[in-house]
Amino acid sequence: MVSNIVILTGAGISAESGIDTFRDGGGLWEQHRVEDVATPEAFARDPDLVHRFYDMRREAIQAKLPNPAHGALARLDAVWNGRLLIVTQNVDDLHERAGARRVLHMHGEHLKAWCTACDVRSPWREPLIDRPPCPVCQSRSLRPDIVWFGEMPYRMGEIYAALREADLFVSIGTSGAVYPAAGLVRDARELGIETLELNLEPSQGSQWFHAARHGPASELVPAWVEEVLAGAGNSGP
Ligand code: APR
Repeated sequence: MVSNIVILTGAGISAESGIDTFRDGGGLWEQHRVEDVATPEAFARDPDLVHRFYDMRREAIQAKLPNPAHGALARLDAVWNGRLLIVTQNVDDLHERAGARRVLHMHGEHLKAWCTACDVRSPWREPLIDRPPCPVCQSRSLRPDIVWFGEMPYRMGEIYAALREADLFVSIGTSGAVYPAAGLVRDARELGIETLELNLEPSQGSQWFHAARHGPASELVPAWVEEVLAGAGNSGP
């Protein structure tokens, strides 16, 4: 009987909202090499290029809308009595705009800016290219609050703590290419937790899951949520 669930989401859950994934054909990195826009070294070398790239992405995501997969997870979050944590690698806010509350952004958020002078992360919607002052300390040291390659993902302690309490781990729309997120399925297996993959196609880590369903998230996720809610599993604390 399922009572505590950890859900990992990736770019595939937002694909049908019109946000490019990273590693599919036509993906985001085709116009830019990862090393040019998503590393601390790139930012040190050419901050204007990096700011322009993230300014464009920040503006773009604000025009997108949640799809039925985000909606289904928000519904699960609203009614699930057990523990639930939606760990997302996505830096968009579509889980929140769909209404989900128990969301953890392990790779940061487009709609926050991080001041490297005072270390405060502030809500942010505007461009950073003109070096606006930090709303807290006025220093012009804001950077996108995005975890770049070579940086440590956020809140891993909370993620592992949730996993230790979980009896189901579900991975949705992620290629399984980027660690430590890609390793969570093996961590879950070691803890004896049931694991399920919902993805357009088998991911790089597909063989680690007890079960996998392949198809678009907008269909698979609502169907899975209905199943979970229909089951007798919703008997958590
Ligand atoms: N429904 C379900 N899955 C889909 C859909 C869809 N409509 N469209 C694409 N996918 C799947 C792809 O088959 C692929 O396996 O989503 C996955 C997307 O993989 P990536 O593009 O690699 O995205 P993600 O796994 O989130 O990337 C991880 O890499 O670049 C970094 O920090 C960035 O958070 C990102 C991390």
